Amino acid sequence: MEKFYITTPIYYVNDKPHIGHAYTTIVADVLARYWRAQIGEDNVYFLTGTDEHGAKIAEAAEAEGIEPQAFTDKVSQKFKDAWSNMEIDYNHFIRTTDKEHVKIITDILNTLKDKGVLYEDNYEGLYCVGCEKFITEGELVDGKCPDHNKEPDNVTEKNWFFKLSDFLPKIKAAIESGELAIYPESRKNEVLGLIDKQHVPDFSISRSKKSVPWGVDLPWDDDQKTYVWVDALSNYITALDYPKGEDFKKYWPADAQFMALDILKFHALYWPAILMALDLPMPKLYIHGFFTIDGQKMSKTLGNVIDPNELVEQYGAEVSKYLILSQFSFGQESDIRVEDFPVKYNADLVNGLGNLVNRVTNMIEKYLDGQIEIDTKDMGLGSEELKQLRFREALLTIWQVIAKDNSLIDQEKPWELAKDEANKDKLKSLLKELSLDLYNIALALKPFMPNKSKEILDIITAKKVTKPSEPLFPRL
Ligand code: MSP
Repeated sequence: MEKFYITTPIYYVNDKPHIGHAYTTIVADVLARYWRAQIGEDNVYFLTGTDEHGAKIAEAAEAEGIEPQAFTDKVSQKFKDAWSNMEIDYNHFIRTTDKEHVKIITDILNTLKDKGVLYEDNYEGLYCVGCEKFITEGELVDGKCPDHNKEPDNVTEKNWFFKLSDFLPKIKAAIESGELAIYPESRKNEVLGLIDKQHVPDFSISRSKKSVPWGVDLPWDDDQKTYVWVDALSNYITALDYPKGEDFKKYWPADAQFMALDILKFHALYWPAILMALDLPMPKLYIHGFFTIDGQKMSKTLGNVIDPNELVEQYGAEVSKYLILSQFSFGQESDIRVEDFPVKYNADLVNGLGNLVNRVTNMIEKYLDGQIEIDTKDMGLGSEELKQLRFREALLTIWQVIAKDNSLIDQEKPWELAKDEANKDKLKSLLKELSLDLYNIALALKPFMPNKSKEILDIITAKKVTKPSEPLFPRL
């Protein structure tokens, strides 16, 4: 039976959701809706969630003066609220602090150890006692920790490591054969380049409890906690109740794992290595660009962080999603220009789609007394593009039809045709053509704007077509 499994990264809860997280979650949502319509609700699984362990989160909790668990409960809820606000329809929201997840991670760690892919070694680094954490050369200012104005100590810490080096040749072969799919092609080549240059050392899977106090215990070593990546990456299978769960048997491997390129290395190297160690099949990875806002990196200090909730407040969920997805192609490094949103809203939605619906239904009402028969044939508008995860291009295909129809009306001037009884057939066939297009536009919009799509379908397939009592997209 056909199935489709879609994931987003699980987002860190050290900060609240922003438009970057929203982009990934929206594309996943659109794709999930598309596949649900193709193969049935019960054969699609869309997973998202939050990544809640690690020093970064513990610090954020401490800064607020609350316990890590209470802190992650609070921020994780903000992600859930934002997605509900954006009308994101996921199947499951996983948290790495979920009891079920922690239990399965413990089993996975034991399995990895039994398979002999883990080894103990010393980790050398600079340690700031004031911060109680390792700090990199790059973070130092004049050789000192900027927060404590003190030179860090050179410390060696015992950690557990994953033998990534043993897996690199197999990962390379899997990428080259397409068994491990990485899209777009440029990102795939980037990963192959990384492997060839051998710039990828084994990775540490644990840290001393001293440095990372907030995390899953390493089952065989009292002094150690799991360090972020095994815990985080495995969420994609723990959510399905690996290894025995029905969902796991049905849905793994993933058909589309979404992320930006910031975490490509972890997903294209660490994750396949873990999966290979567990004898599991490879997923398909889809990498989109990391975007800036009005030319700058999003940052709290610059104050240019866009809150998806504010967009929804201004435009509603469906329009917000349209505005975000239509700005640039998936995979492209891009800049979000917020000042373009109102212009785009007016051009594409008010004057484009909204106007077309209004004109066509108004004419059917006026010239044909609301009576029109359309043969409801699905032309699969935008379907090919969506299958290839070309979200913007799918929208462009739909909007080409909208533009074509609006100019067809301008050219044919149905209001002139209506003046002469002799043109009755011509007028009727013109309105038929237009309503068939509207019907298909609405079908194609379903994964993007399910509510607007239904509104249009209801209007155009009604026994007596009348123009909408209120504009579909009110002018700003
Ligand atoms: N917790 C890890 C992921 C673990 S997955 C097993 C993490 N979290 S994160 O909160 O930093 O989320 C990173 C992801 O958020 C990116 O890969 C991308 O999906 C999304 N984005 C965050 N900022 C973004 C932009 N500025 N632009 C595009 N996507 C962005 O990494």
